[in-house]
Amino acid sequence: MKASLVIENIKTLVTVRGGEMPRTGKAQGQAGIIENGVVAVKDGKIIFVGEGDLPEGIEISEDTVVIDGSGKTVTPGLIDCHTHLVHGGSRENELAMKLEGKGYLEILAAGGGIHSTTKATENATSQELYEKAWKSLQTMLGFGVTTVEAKSGYGIGSFETELKQIEVANKLNQDHPVDILPTFMGAHAIPAAYKENPDQFVDKLVNEMIPHIAENKLAKFCDVFCEEGVFSVDQSRRIILAAKKNGLIPKIHADEIVSLGGAELAAETGCISAEHLIGASDQGIKDMAEADTIAVLLPGTSFNLQKNGARARDMIQAGVPVAVSTDYNPGSCPSENLQLMMTLASLTLKMLPEEVITAVTLNAAAALGISDHTGSLEIGKNADIAIFDAPNLDYMIYHFGINHTDKVVKGGKVVFEK
Ligand code: NIG
Ligand code: FE
Repeated sequence: MKASLVIENIKTLVTVRGGEMPRTGKAQGQAGIIENGVVAVKDGKIIFVGEGDLPEGIEISEDTVVIDGSGKTVTPGLIDCHTHLVHGGSRENELAMKLEGKGYLEILAAGGGIHSTTKATENATSQELYEKAWKSLQTMLGFGVTTVEAKSGYGIGSFETELKQIEVANKLNQDHPVDILPTFMGAHAIPAAYKENPDQFVDKLVNEMIPHIAENKLAKFCDVFCEEGVFSVDQSRRIILAAKKNGLIPKIHADEIVSLGGAELAAETGCISAEHLIGASDQGIKDMAEADTIAVLLPGTSFNLQKNGARARDMIQAGVPVAVSTDYNPGSCPSENLQLMMTLASLTLKMLPEEVITAVTLNAAAALGISDHTGSLEIGKNADIAIFDAPNLDYMIYHFGINHTDKVVKGGKVVFEK
C-alpha cells in the first residue's frame, strides 16, 4: 500500500491512542507516547502508527509527502471544544473597569459585557462576521487546532442575529480547513425586554427557537449560561430538556462564577459536558463522575477573570474526564491560543503534561461527540495531526507564550506550515 503522507523520525510521538472513550483518572495521564515514532497516512486516514521504520507493506512512492519529524513533538490535531468564535467587535474598554475592581457579572448587569458584544454582532454584516471569524480560525489553525466548536449567543433575543452567527459558522465549516461544529446558545443572557419576565424568554427558547434550530439541522449542540442573574438552575433544566427532546445535544456553562449547582444539573440531565466549573461542588463532581459528564475546563477564563482555577485534580481523582479549551470570546477570554491554555492548565490547574494533551485532543473530541474518528493518532482515524517544534510535551508546556507549531495536517493534507 502506498502512503500519501509519512512523518518519520519523530522525536516524541504522542498518540493518545486507545479508542474513542474519553480518558479518566490515571488513564487521562497516559498519552501513549512513542519515542522515534512514525505515522503513515492514505486517503485522509491514518494507516500506521508505531516506532522506528514503516512496516513491510506500507511504501513511500515519489508522490508521498515525507516530513522529517526529527526533534519534533507530533500530536493529534488540537481540538478547541468551547469557543464563542463568531461575534462582532471587541471589549478592551472593560480592562480599566476590571482593574478598578468591577466584576464580570456587575458589568453584565449594567448592560455591558455580553450585551455590548450583542450590539456589535447585530450591527455587523454576515460578511464582516465571516471575515473576523476567518482571521481567528487562521490563528487557531496556526496554533495546531484542527477542529473548533462555535457557539452563537450574541443575539440575546434577536433570533435573526443568532441565525446569522450560526449561518456564518456553517459557512466557515464548508470553506475553511478547520472543522467547525456549531452550538445554539440563545440562552446566553436575559434580553432587556424580558428582565421582569425571564420565564417568558425561556418559553420562547423552548417552544420556538430550539425546535427551529433542530428542525433545520443548524447546530449539533445547545448550550445555556446557568449563572446567578442569568439563567437559574430551573430555567436551565427546561432549556436542556427541550434541547434533548428536539435532538440537540445539551451542554452547559456551569458554576463559572457563582456555585449554583450547574455541575449537578449537567449530570442529572445527561449533558455531554459541563463547562467552566470554577465553583463546582463536591457533590457536583461526584455526580459528573457517575454520569460520565465531561468537564470542559477553561483556564484562560479563570486567569483573565482573576479567579481561582477549576478543581482539575479533584475531578481527575474522582474519575471525571477532563477537557481543556480556550473559551475564546471577546469578554472573559479574548485569546485563540490553545497552547497558552495548555500551559495555564498545567500551572494553574496543576494538570500534568500528559493529562493536558489528552484534555485538548481525545477528551475534547469526546466532548464534541467526534472521538470515533478524530482526537487520537491510531489506524482508521482521520489524519488530523499537529507537528510542534519542541522535543517533548513538557518542553511545549514549559516554554510558554510562543507558538510551537511547525506544521498542521488536516484530513491527510498539510494545511499550515511555519
Ligand atoms: O464562557 N459566560 C458566558 N459566556 C462566555 C463569555 C461571553 C462574553 O463575555 O462575551 C464565557 O465566559
Ligand atoms: Fe464560554
